[in-house]
Amino acid sequence: MSFRFAVAAVFLVAGAPALADTIAVIGTGDVGGALGPEFAGQGHTIIYGSRNPERGKVKDLVEKTGDLASATTPAEAAAQADIVVLAVPGLLVEEITKSLGDLSGKIIIDPTNPLERRMNRLEHAVDTSNAEIIQAAAPGAHVVKAFNTLNWKTMVDVDSAGGPVSIPLVGDNGRAKDKVAELVAGMGLEPIDVGPLRDARWVEGMLILWINNRYGSMRPSFDYHLRRN
Ligand SMILES: NC(=O)c1ccc[n+]([C@@H]2O[C@H](COP(=O)([O-])OP(=O)(O)OC[C@H]3O[C@@H](n4cnc5c(N)ncnc54)[C@H](OP(=O)(O)O)[C@@H]3O)[C@@H](O)[C@H]2O)c1
Repeated sequence: MSFRFAVAAVFLVAGAPALADTIAVIGTGDVGGALGPEFAGQGHTIIYGSRNPERGKVKDLVEKTGDLASATTPAEAAAQADIVVLAVPGLLVEEITKSLGDLSGKIIIDPTNPLERRMNRLEHAVDTSNAEIIQAAAPGAHVVKAFNTLNWKTMVDVDSAGGPVSIPLVGDNGRAKDKVAELVAGMGLEPIDVGPLRDARWVEGMLILWINNRYGSMRPSFDYHLRRN
């Protein structure tokens, strides 16, 4: 039995999670469009925050996500949610976080990578990390970095990795990390707490190493998925 199937079976037996949350997914691109339906499948209410919630692509995503899903502006979505996912361009996280209003007490899930093209490579474009930039922009929130290390296609098809895939979590609030770990496990992925938020820069580097090999000038020579031992 695959790990994903096993987790799904537990959910079928146990029903919806004991505490369903309202989750704002800010951004309706590849990552938002992957995580929203996955979290809805775990019984959570999804509110997409989009710059244009009325457009057809967003309506299609809401329909695909299920009966409890809706879309509105980013600030309205965040205001209604317990958990806010920032599935937005990696170089815009500071201004987008500040535009969402007071996020105090909420969990922010940060799947972003601050990527900047220099010559024919993608580089880590900030001195610290996006997770720390988001935390500074929303000091009362609990930021947890997660999901930045894998392609969105693996998020929705974990079995395509040929074995279990672990998701490194960094953050400074244990309860927030526990909550995000539940969401990760509910997708058939394996959460691993790898440390405090200041380690986010190393976790952000993991994807950059892979992406430059995969899409850079050289022929791709490796693939990897973090896997807990
Ligand atoms: N793609 C992957 O496989 C992958 C994997 C891991 C991590 N990541 C990281 O996750 C983040 C999101 O990636 P993605 O692939 O989902 O990106 P994407 O497809 O470009 O989607 C980003 C979304 O952000 C919203 N947005 C808000 N302000 C924006 C602005 N000024 N310009 C453009 N979009 C804006 C848009 O949604 P609305 O139009 O609805 O506002 C847009 O669809 C990035 O930081 C990326 O590095 C990506």
